[in-house]
Amino acid sequence: MADGPMTEPFAVGIERLRTEALAALGSIGDTTALEAWRIHYLGKGGLVTEELKRIGGLPPAERPAAGQVINDLKRVLNEALDVARATLEAAAQEVAAAREAVDVTLPGRGVDIGVAHPLSEAMARIEAIFVELGFTVASGPEIEDEFHNFEALNIPAHHPARAMHDTFYLDSGRLLRTHTSTVQIRYMEHHKPPFRIIAPGRVYRSDAPDPTHSPVFHQIEGLAVGPELTMGHLKSVLKTFLQAFFERQLALRLRPSYFPFTEPSAEVDISCLLCGGSGCRVCKNTGWIEVLGCGLVHPAVLARVGIDAEALGGFAFGMGVERLVMLRDGVPDVRLFYENDLRFLKGIGTCA
Ligand code: PHE
Repeated sequence: MADGPMTEPFAVGIERLRTEALAALGSIGDTTALEAWRIHYLGKGGLVTEELKRIGGLPPAERPAAGQVINDLKRVLNEALDVARATLEAAAQEVAAAREAVDVTLPGRGVDIGVAHPLSEAMARIEAIFVELGFTVASGPEIEDEFHNFEALNIPAHHPARAMHDTFYLDSGRLLRTHTSTVQIRYMEHHKPPFRIIAPGRVYRSDAPDPTHSPVFHQIEGLAVGPELTMGHLKSVLKTFLQAFFERQLALRLRPSYFPFTEPSAEVDISCLLCGGSGCRVCKNTGWIEVLGCGLVHPAVLARVGIDAEALGGFAFGMGVERLVMLRDGVPDVRLFYENDLRFLKGIGTCA
């Protein structure tokens, strides 16, 4: 390989440079460091080039051998550089491939199935039960006037019953209806008996929210007008409805009560859903739970809308939907219906 004698220090220096360069290369982990290494050793001003420049300072006889040694070094370092670059590129490709890999066995992203709101679900069920009993579904406006909310229902101005309705008044004599009994009047104004209707809808009362009060809630009104309708018919319809809604046999009790628009009037109690009547915390040890108000339509109400109270009669009832669902599903606080907490809505909701 070498033609002539060569000074020991030069060859030793080249060998040290080679060892150092290869060791440095071995610890490189990315292409930026690799490029820095190339410039440091093999670049125009790099250490190997520096060594080449030193050849001119050697005795002429030693120059060919020294040139050969440096060329060998250059070749070795370039080859090592190519190997290192290929290794780094292969590793980078592996990382990229792993990142882009699709695991077709992973479960898909969850898509939540919505549920009907518990009140919508309950109202749909209640409507279906009454439709089967021959009732049709009617509706009326939520913004009402005093006539339909009070006067036509036999509640004149200054009547004490008005104080029981904490009314939201709007301008120019309008108000938010305090009960769905307004629809009794609106329906009778435009339809000839006989008929039987229910009227579900929102009602408003200026109550502070608490576990049993909400300023907005839902009622279902019932009204039947025809010849010879009695409390017996009313009780039978309500018993059929309540047993269908609560999906069990129930005892019913009509307790005398007072509403200006019915006479006689009654509150309906059902045997306690929890204890069946023996007495517990839910029924406050009475065995009974109050579920709705009802009565025979007051002749004065029929007269207001031009129905002959001598020839025809009717019964009416009104119930709070929230209260029925709270009893059926053990919901402890009416505000839960209005807070949109999905844990509650899904807990008692059913698939839409
Ligand atoms: N409107 C009454 C209320 O809101 C309920 C009711 C309706 C009572 C029909 C009797 C007849 O309390």
